[in-house]
Amino acid sequence: MVRLRNNGEMEKTRFEGLAVGIDFGTTNSSVAIVNGDSKVELASFPYGGGSTLSFRSVLYLEQVKSSAGAKQIRSKTGPAAIEGYLDAEEKGRLIQSLKSYLPNRTLTGTEVFGRRYTLEELISRMLADLRGHAERQFDVPIRHATVGRPVRFVGAETEEDDAYAVSRLRDAFVLAGFESVDFEMEPIAAAYSYESTLDHDELILIGDFGGGTSDFSLLRVGPGVRRRGRTRQDLLGNSGVGLAGDAFDARIIRKLVSPALGSESYARSLNKTLPAVPTWIYSNLERWHYLSFLRTRNVAEILRSARLRALEPERIEALTALIEEDLGYQLHQAVQQVKFELSRSTSAEFRFRDGSLELQIPVTRSEFEDWISEELGAIERCVDQLLESTGVSPREVDRVFLTGGSSFVPAVRRIFTRRFGEDRIQTGNEFTSVAHGLALRAEEAMMEAAV
Ligand SMILES: Nc1ncnc2c1ncn2[C@@H]1O[C@H](COP(=O)(O)OP(=O)(O)OP(=O)(O)O)[C@@H](O)[C@H]1O
Ligand SMILES: [Mg+2]
Repeated sequence: MVRLRNNGEMEKTRFEGLAVGIDFGTTNSSVAIVNGDSKVELASFPYGGGSTLSFRSVLYLEQVKSSAGAKQIRSKTGPAAIEGYLDAEEKGRLIQSLKSYLPNRTLTGTEVFGRRYTLEELISRMLADLRGHAERQFDVPIRHATVGRPVRFVGAETEEDDAYAVSRLRDAFVLAGFESVDFEMEPIAAAYSYESTLDHDELILIGDFGGGTSDFSLLRVGPGVRRRGRTRQDLLGNSGVGLAGDAFDARIIRKLVSPALGSESYARSLNKTLPAVPTWIYSNLERWHYLSFLRTRNVAEILRSARLRALEPERIEALTALIEEDLGYQLHQAVQQVKFELSRSTSAEFRFRDGSLELQIPVTRSEFEDWISEELGAIERCVDQLLESTGVSPREVDRVFLTGGSSFVPAVRRIFTRRFGEDRIQTGNEFTSVAHGLALRAEEAMMEAAV
């Protein structure tokens, strides 16, 4: 790329032919750029005194007073959002997993501190900050990018729903100052990243398991394919399902945490026993950032009267503390911790200690696998459908590359070891392979355009 210096002189930057890949993930986002030497560099973001390559896809909105005393709303994103939230005396709104709402036509936005925000606007705050960080690090303006999209968005039922989600995501990029974006399927991007390690051609199956979605692609890649030029036939097919890490977390809350907070407890009512607390209150716990919506007078009243009649009032007290002290984020962190531990060990302990609430519950990996069996079944069917619809038998697949944070879950890996054997499975770059591959795709598209 050629840039103009302040004095109008032409300057060649080390980012000759700027190719940018952006993976806006449900949980984590990352940015990659192909530099002038055709090497991929990942953007890094300040985090807790150090730095990280994955930027948490969270947004924090808080109300602050300007020097003139007027109230203003300030937004923080990524690691700064979490730090801002934890440091604040008076908590604002911390929002995550926004990508999962993109196909939802009834969710156009939300009201925060009396101001209405569209979903696109909320997402654009994160994208603008991602862009800003990358521009500063690489010292180039970024106006174009190749952006990832899941094969099937969370909750999307038809291709129209997916197209609608993509158009909203495009709008969010435009609001964030991008002039144009090209979309690429996230598992295909992961395939390009894996391809960059190959010295021969392979037929590969990619499984990308994130926070919101599980995505699959079956394609032929390698240096020979690149040399002769990719053809339509190289991509055998894609498939996806809107289930991944967030759905696993919701199960942990339903099966492990909510019972400790009274979801299976009863209360005396005249001469009958009835559930102590209505189930809709526990459904709000499963999406942790909804927890703050439970801080209403109505819910406080329901809980007060439930506590008086409950057979296990201490559980209702614990639920009340969680809601009153607005510990949704902390609860989510504790759920993540126990899930991560179950990826490493066959048993773990769920530990939550914050405010006046303390919970310690042992759990085994096999219990967890039991809780997520429906999700695992849906993921499994999605893989089998891809193989069936493309007429490819597992024997023909040279390699299976598993990536994304939820690929650490042993039961997810087992779906593949059962079908393909341990030797053909490869894992790696769980949080960066998609952005890395998107940047390579952006570079390839630029070369195609130049021919
Ligand atoms: N060690 C681990 N064990 C189990 N799950 C994990 C582990 N590490 C991360 N995860 C989960 O991985 C998910 C995040 O993965 P990733 O960053 O790949 O998702 P994403 O790209 O943001 O989402 P998507 O691709 O669906 O938009 C979270 O649900 C997180 O809890
Ligand atoms: Mg992802």
